[in-house]
Amino acid sequence: MRILVSGGAGYIGSHTTLQLIAAGHEAVIVDDFSRSKRSVIPRLDALAGAPIEWYAVDVTDRDATESLVAGGSFEAVIHFAGLKAVGESVEQPLDYYRVNLGSTLSLLAAMGRHGVRKIVFSSSATVYGENAAVPMEEDFPTSATNPYGWTKVMQEQILRDAAVADPSLRVALLRYFNPVGAHASGTIGEDPSGIPNNLMPLIAQVAVGRREKVMVFGDDYPTPDGTGRRDYLHVEDLAAGHVAALDRLGTTADPVSTWNLGTGTPTSVREMVDAFSRACGRALPFEIAPRRPGDIAESYADPSRAETELGWTADRTIDQMCEDTWRWQSQNPEGYPDDE
Ligand code: NAD
Ligand code: UD1
Repeated sequence: MRILVSGGAGYIGSHTTLQLIAAGHEAVIVDDFSRSKRSVIPRLDALAGAPIEWYAVDVTDRDATESLVAGGSFEAVIHFAGLKAVGESVEQPLDYYRVNLGSTLSLLAAMGRHGVRKIVFSSSATVYGENAAVPMEEDFPTSATNPYGWTKVMQEQILRDAAVADPSLRVALLRYFNPVGAHASGTIGEDPSGIPNNLMPLIAQVAVGRREKVMVFGDDYPTPDGTGRRDYLHVEDLAAGHVAALDRLGTTADPVSTWNLGTGTPTSVREMVDAFSRACGRALPFEIAPRRPGDIAESYADPSRAETELGWTADRTIDQMCEDTWRWQSQNPEGYPDDE
């Protein structure tokens, strides 16, 4: 299949692009590089063993997206492009609605006009809101507590409505839990701009000396060690989930399929700091800090639907996630080189 990968230069998109190519697909990246660097492209070319077709286009630009899709002969779109920082979304909600909803609308419009019938969408466990039971199941009600979360709830709804209006459309809503880790080569990985929001890149920056210590947000949660528990999954397992979902869209009669992508096993902040300390060979300093507003005690998936319907499971261990992150971070202490 020839597949348009929006946001393909980003963290999850770059790993998925390589797995699509390895599975025999032709992956074409479209990215505006607002949250990634162009220097990822030659690294992807090297890992793929051939140049990857890519376009620097803002997919909220309807005309530019239309021209790209019109001449592209695509069979599917995997839509990663968007903004994802929760705190920033509270400060700049309109940008989040404009970019996240606008990108989905312009891609769907272009797909509709040019006969592209399959879309795989990057949703998030954040759509389960703050009071969900664990493990989280796909049929739970959705809600949100911040603009970022609302954009995911709304994008899911837009995609469902589009599938009602066009019964030939096939939509996969992939609800990721907490993606971490990096490609085994250590040449591509997560490179957040500014101060990272998420735990793993923060721990990795402490390990490499860019930050002094890990601030552990709360040790009084009702969990075994008092720190928050999450369902971390390796980005390579997550990437494989996209390839499996895309295959499934070719055969399913369901217009919309929703799959949790997680391991089903929670890991605490303290366990994560310990695992990373093992991976980098030094006890990483940490300090207990107040809870982060908006955080929940526990979040982990019931991944059984993805296992049954996609034949997919996330098997890489927490130690592998930390070892691969450490390889990437230690080889690239400042992340990707700046664009010229
Ligand atoms: P990322 O920021 O690394 O990648 C997003 C990519 O989209 C970047 O390369 C960015 O430049 C590009 N982009 C942004 N706006 C664009 C636009 N208007 N036009 C073209 N390209 C644009 O993020 P990621 O971690 O790879 O996340 C990918 C998707 O997965 C996002 O939709 C995110 O919300 C979702 N998601 C991520 C996580 C996570 O923890 N990383 C969890 C759940 C869901
Ligand atoms: C965050 C987002 C969520 C998003 C998810 C994946 C918030 C409130 N939620 O969730 O919407 O879908 O990332 O991108 O931002 N922690 C620390 N110290 C830190 C950073 C984190 O102790 O410096 C703890 C957190 O309290 C939490 C765990 O580590 O218990 C994981 O945090 P994080 O990586 O930010 O993920 P989520 O909280 O799941």
